[in-house]
Amino acid sequence: MLTNALLALLAAEPPPNAVLAEMALLHEALVVTLVGVETANVDAVPAAFHKVHAAKEETARALDSGAWKPKAGTTVADFKKQDEAFHRELEKLVKAAAKKDVPATAKQLGAVITGCPACHAKFRPEPAKAP
Ligand code: HEC
Repeated sequence: MLTNALLALLAAEPPPNAVLAEMALLHEALVVTLVGVETANVDAVPAAFHKVHAAKEETARALDSGAWKPKAGTTVADFKKQDEAFHRELEKLVKAAAKKDVPATAKQLGAVITGCPACHAKFRPEPAKAP
């Protein structure tokens, strides 16, 4: 079950920052994909990821302006590199879903999910102290 803190973060209006806004959409798209795999109908997957892609532009602006910074000791350039590699995996997922290929979508979902902790461990800023 999702913790209340995570639910609140995902539902925050407006989202606290551009990266978290993108993450909330990413979370949603992943759930849409999982449900698609479960029901053997992945038609809704491409549209869910197009929203993520649109949010990525806002993230790029926040990175370029310095409004959002990755974890201390890492660089924006390295973060962007990892983000771009991740988005290439998302594109493969969208392509599989666009072909209505449920097994290929499920397989690529695995590759995409592997990318979440890979980036979080390296670039997620230390959380603010709990209130
Ligand atoms: C390229 C880097 C990157 C990738 C890949 C990535 N994330 Fe994130 N994610 C972040 C960063 C950075 C934060 C923290 C942002 C902040 O707190 O300002 C974050 C935060 C989150 C949060 C908010 C919860 C929390 O504890 O901070 C969720 C939910 C989330 N990501 C979901 C996902 C999911 C699901 C995936 C994989 C499908 C994913 N992310 C992949 C960088 C990434």
